[in-house]
Amino acid sequence: MTDVLYNCPRCGGLIEVVYPKRDASGWKTLWRERRMSNAPLDQSGVWRYREFLPFLDDDRHVVTLREGCTPLLDAPRAAQYGGLDALTFKHQGFNPTGSFKDNGMTCGAAQARRLGMNRVACVSTGNTSASMAAYASAGGLQPVIFLPHGNISFGKLAQALEYGARTIQVDANFDQILAMVRQLADEVGIYLLNSINPFRIEGQKTIMVEMMDQRDWRVPDWVVLPGGNLGNASAFGKALREMLELGLIDRLPRLAVVQAEGSAPFYELVQAVAAGSGAAQLHPVEHPETLATAIKIGDPVSWPKALHEIAVTGGVVEKVTEQEIADAKAVVGRCGIGCEPASAATLAGIRKLTAAGVMREDADVVAVLTGNVLKDPDYIHRYHTGVLEYKSSGKIRPSLGNPPVLANFDLAEIKALIDV
Ligand code: F0G
Repeated sequence: MTDVLYNCPRCGGLIEVVYPKRDASGWKTLWRERRMSNAPLDQSGVWRYREFLPFLDDDRHVVTLREGCTPLLDAPRAAQYGGLDALTFKHQGFNPTGSFKDNGMTCGAAQARRLGMNRVACVSTGNTSASMAAYASAGGLQPVIFLPHGNISFGKLAQALEYGARTIQVDANFDQILAMVRQLADEVGIYLLNSINPFRIEGQKTIMVEMMDQRDWRVPDWVVLPGGNLGNASAFGKALREMLELGLIDRLPRLAVVQAEGSAPFYELVQAVAAGSGAAQLHPVEHPETLATAIKIGDPVSWPKALHEIAVTGGVVEKVTEQEIADAKAVVGRCGIGCEPASAATLAGIRKLTAAGVMREDADVVAVLTGNVLKDPDYIHRYHTGVLEYKSSGKIRPSLGNPPVLANFDLAEIKALIDV
């Protein structure tokens, strides 16, 4: 596709990339062999799977920072906390800019270059902007970023500045700014790299492909992920459907999307659909709240796609409190793994789903940690020192708090502190 198009001219819905019928025999071997290669495209955990996302006619447009290639990590302690016998994290925080956005951004940036664009833009709760800034600058494009002022972590803002993005902090929330920028992009001809961009979704599909490749194509029972704008849920569902159609896998895992309680319009929608009350129509949360700022989104644009993927995979949507996210995050930390707040919604959600009997304790579960622990150090310090606060419910209890200890420059005193 060489038109700049995000929405269907007929129905107004978001565009989805569709490919002609493909023969996937030999792909698994080819993909495995590429791990031995030193070619940049083969070393990328996105472009290694390029047959699965063949939208680009010329590889020279690709900007790669060797994205993807993220590990599957066993986490027995987190499993126990979540009420499971075993749990594996697919840690997208190992990406070059520290989040899963890099998987999609390498594709979005390639498409922008293919279209001959000079400037790219996004509205972001932080990670998309960090990623876009990096890939745009690496690929000779000018990044322009719009952020909800005061509502993104410093780690993410710092990345945008360091990677050279024109950074505009707007006094409005994510949903309001996105609506405005969608209009602006058409008027001033900037290429939008939010997840309304279908090529970003194509790139994010590889998170599922790489996971299956790493598991030698053994399909898990569940894939758990946090839900914000719902681009990732859409990408995962599409990837799983396509892998099934192509015969790469023999069944679908169930998707479990977890939202923060104060920003959970998709949870409410799926509840309403299950109860059979009315048409499937999302009611936006006008003032979304959560300390997990990455998923502080009240009007997720990709909800129709995500709803479809939940239905197709027999999936579920759960919501969790701020306290639950904070404690789950500390547990992920204690595993020596760590993640940012939004990512920890997965483990908090798993704990609820096993308690409710939706997820069996012997289920084979992969939870996707979407962002690196260093994305939001301020949150961590506040939690461990007992000063993390959430507007509507006050202080978060540091149930697993591990505050630093102040000591005088005194050997005996320090020795006593070590022995506690
Ligand atoms: N986890 C993290 C760490 C995120 O940054 C995001 C979204 C999500 C989960 C939710 O993913 O939107 O595909 O449902 N961050 C976007 C951003 C909105 O601007 O960085 P989603």
